[in-house]
Amino acid sequence: MNIVVIGAGYVGLTAACCLANAGHRVTCIENNESKLKLLNQGISPIQEKGIDQLLKQGLASGKLSFVSSLPKPIETDTVIMITVGTPSLPSGAADLSSIYQVAAELKNAIQYPLILIMKSTVPPGTGVKLVQRYFENTPISYVANPEFLREERAIEDWYHPSRIVIGAADNKIAEKVRQLYSDIDAPVIITDITSAETIKYAANAFLVTKISFINEIANLCETMSANIDDVAKGIGLDTRIGPDFLRAGLGYGGSCFPKDARALDFAALNKGYDLRLLKVTIEVNTKQRILAVHKLKQLLGGLAGKEIALLGLAFKPDTDDIRESPSIDIAYLLYEEGAKLRVYDPTAMQNARPLLPSEVTFATDIYSATVGANAIILVTEWQEFIHADWQTIKKQMNQPYLILDGRNALAQDKLMALGFKYVGVGRRL
Ligand code: UDX
Repeated sequence: MNIVVIGAGYVGLTAACCLANAGHRVTCIENNESKLKLLNQGISPIQEKGIDQLLKQGLASGKLSFVSSLPKPIETDTVIMITVGTPSLPSGAADLSSIYQVAAELKNAIQYPLILIMKSTVPPGTGVKLVQRYFENTPISYVANPEFLREERAIEDWYHPSRIVIGAADNKIAEKVRQLYSDIDAPVIITDITSAETIKYAANAFLVTKISFINEIANLCETMSANIDDVAKGIGLDTRIGPDFLRAGLGYGGSCFPKDARALDFAALNKGYDLRLLKVTIEVNTKQRILAVHKLKQLLGGLAGKEIALLGLAFKPDTDDIRESPSIDIAYLLYEEGAKLRVYDPTAMQNARPLLPSEVTFATDIYSATVGANAIILVTEWQEFIHADWQTIKKQMNQPYLILDGRNALAQDKLMALGFKYVGVGRRL
């Protein structure tokens, strides 16, 4: 098939590379000139495991190409896939301006009939409205086909999805879209457009609720002297609950969960329904960052003038993405309290630098970050931190040798044996 993918973010680029790898002829539109230049040289502008190889293969086979604007006209029977961003507006609502812009452009560029697939995350009801607004009485077949790709594991998730969701007004069209994924073995759910859009948001809402739930239980464990590691294991073995997404810590961040949670909350309110559970989930997530700073403050007897090493800026390991990362809020709160802050992350330093106060010191590694520190806060559970030489780190720190392990990732017993004062999130001391 001929496929036009609009937007080369981590979702669009993954889709373009994987679809070309499946033998389709894919043209990917990227309007940022510097990114476009890199892409045409076979260099991925984003960090994503395995993407460089697929990108090079696609370019070499001639199946994949990158251009700056929509080809005009777009031939009939082309499949168009929209993968542009839908960030948060200040209200929390999803900003659909890029989607509208693309739809308006497409309206004048396409030769009907063709299939238009929405892969961007858009609130329930958007697809139906978009068709009414831009494509009324045209033979366009609109399909909501949400993605469930994790950053840094997007290619793995593309080839091994838990399900493929296809929302279409017409079963024949849904079947055609299913053909795009003929190289993938996964259950396929065919629904109407709005239900497919809702699946995406409900999945993310459920996952963030699970995270905030386990964080609340971790906080409870602290007050009860219970151990969250055992509690999470004990409840996760119930197959109705499952073991995933029960890692207590500093809460979720990233480019999807926070914005999608807010957007669903807003979209529901706009329809007159108050999603109270989701609101509390969002609040608990914010509180988790604040609690960590309060803990440090209490354990250090105040933060003013204290030397603190903050390890990890990325919202999760193996990425340089700092969007909505707990590290940024935590760094600011510590800075405002007068702490002297040294931060280090293996890949996210460049992205974080413009967002942090100029007095924050950016260290070159975990060892220089922790010299003279009164306390360490681990925000991102990079393997490099887990396997660091903690004995050396202890020797170069100052009293009270405190570690706040914000991800429950470090070996508590070992660190305590080395003389650290260890505090996790809901771990028994
Ligand atoms: C997420 C979804 O998993 C994916 O399906 C969707 O399409 C995009 O958003 P991603 O943002 O890459 O993917 O991150 P993910 O690996 O799911 O983790 C999200 C956040 O939740 C991270 O900040 C992580 O630290 C946190 N998390 C995850 C926890 O705090 N505890 C857990 O048990 C799991």
